[in-house]
Amino acid sequence: MLSVEGVSKSFDQFMAVRRANLTVPEGSVVAVIGPNGAGKTTLFNLITGQLKSDRGSIVFRGEEISGLPPYEICRRGIGRAFQIANVFARLTVFENVQVAVLAQQRKSTHLFRPAQGIAVAETHSILESTGLTGQARRLAGVLSHGDQRVLEIAIALGSQPKLLILDEPTAGMSPEETATTMTLVNQLAKTRGITILFCEHDMDIVFSVAQSIMVMQHGSTIIQGTPDQVRQNRAVQEAYLGGGDA
Ligand SMILES: Nc1ncnc2c1ncn2[C@@H]1O[C@H](COP(=O)(O)OP(=O)(O)O)[C@@H](O)[C@H]1O
Ligand SMILES: [Mg+2]
Repeated sequence: MLSVEGVSKSFDQFMAVRRANLTVPEGSVVAVIGPNGAGKTTLFNLITGQLKSDRGSIVFRGEEISGLPPYEICRRGIGRAFQIANVFARLTVFENVQVAVLAQQRKSTHLFRPAQGIAVAETHSILESTGLTGQARRLAGVLSHGDQRVLEIAIALGSQPKLLILDEPTAGMSPEETATTMTLVNQLAKTRGITILFCEHDMDIVFSVAQSIMVMQHGSTIIQGTPDQVRQNRAVQEAYLGGGDA
């Protein structure tokens, strides 16, 4: 579904991403791991078009997407959960998701379609599949940190992504919230058929949830493979024993 090949990005003289490679098969849950500063967030920004790569290719569903603006990449089916910034604190949970659903419908305009009704049904469906139905009428601003982060995922689902990118979805969550959120992510992949690409510093989560793991260090890809292949890889063991904090 997504194929990143030899992608690089420099900030001034500093090469944050160095000829990185990543493959995301359709329907899979893929994790990117690596110490702080390894280039994970920069790589995600390159895929979603927030940053432009200096070289390399990013192919999504058979089409080159590097260089396209973010809204165009989103329209093609790559969604991303933005942190807190995207949540309207003074709207209800329902309204937050509905706004995202309506924004998507406006992009695929069908003039005489009863947009409002469809948006309501779709919003309910997203709240249901993210476990937020019980919170639908609450103001987003009063949710727990964990629920707000789940709401970010629900908002991202409003754009009907085929590939959903999550940057440390469980950051700042309690162990219980973390477990619930990763179960949710797994279910989204299974029940909504959404392909998931995420990065995460908690190795237990990564190795229990991801079917494929790509390891980054100093901007480069060390290896991508199954959890077992990654665990047994010498370079990975050395990188992690060598003092990375991930
Ligand atoms: N906009 C930027 N300008 C300059 N340096 C940046 C910028 N964004 C990231 N970096 C640097 O690039 C490196 C990779 O950062 P990042 O992709 O955020 O890593 P990670 O998400 O793996 O922790 C870091 O050294 C960071 O300081
Ligand atoms: Mg990061």
